[in-house]
Amino acid sequence: MVKRLIGAVSLTALMLLVACSEQAPESTLDGIFTAEQAQRGEGLFNQHCTRCHSIQEFTGRSFDAVWTGTPAAALYLRIANTMPLDQPGSLGNSQATALFAHILSENGMPAGESPLEADLEFMAGILIAPSS
Ligand code: HEC
Repeated sequence: MVKRLIGAVSLTALMLLVACSEQAPESTLDGIFTAEQAQRGEGLFNQHCTRCHSIQEFTGRSFDAVWTGTPAAALYLRIANTMPLDQPGSLGNSQATALFAHILSENGMPAGESPLEADLEFMAGILIAPSS
């Protein structure tokens, strides 16, 4: 009887655990940045990136061809570590995350409640979805 009860309790715990892990963000469609970040990123893009790039290079088909299906960490690191080309590494974490949020937002990814942090482990587990 007690054994059966323990069995039922651990089954419930297991189901809860599965339910929770299903809610963890898995792709860029899961609201991994805030609208404020994306908005700030737009200003930063105009300030730091448009002398060499237009946003069209990072949206739609161009985006899908390079980034869809890769981990979010890959695009984040490309921005944070290699751009601007003439001053790599000059962006702070909050600038790099905002720029990344802007690019995701321009590709139709939804904003969410919590801001994106410069957390590579988290971003390694997030898949970049196709643009829309
Ligand atoms: C001085 C010019 C210059 C500036 C400023 C610059 N970039 Fe770049 N960027 C380049 C060049 C050149 C490449 C290489 C193109 C390639 O290899 O496809 C590149 C490549 C990239 C790529 C990868 C290519 C792709 O198709 O996705 C990303 C992402 C990127 N830049 C983002 C940015 C962002 C964000 C900024 C602003 C913080 C920025 N760049 C500022 C010159 C620049």
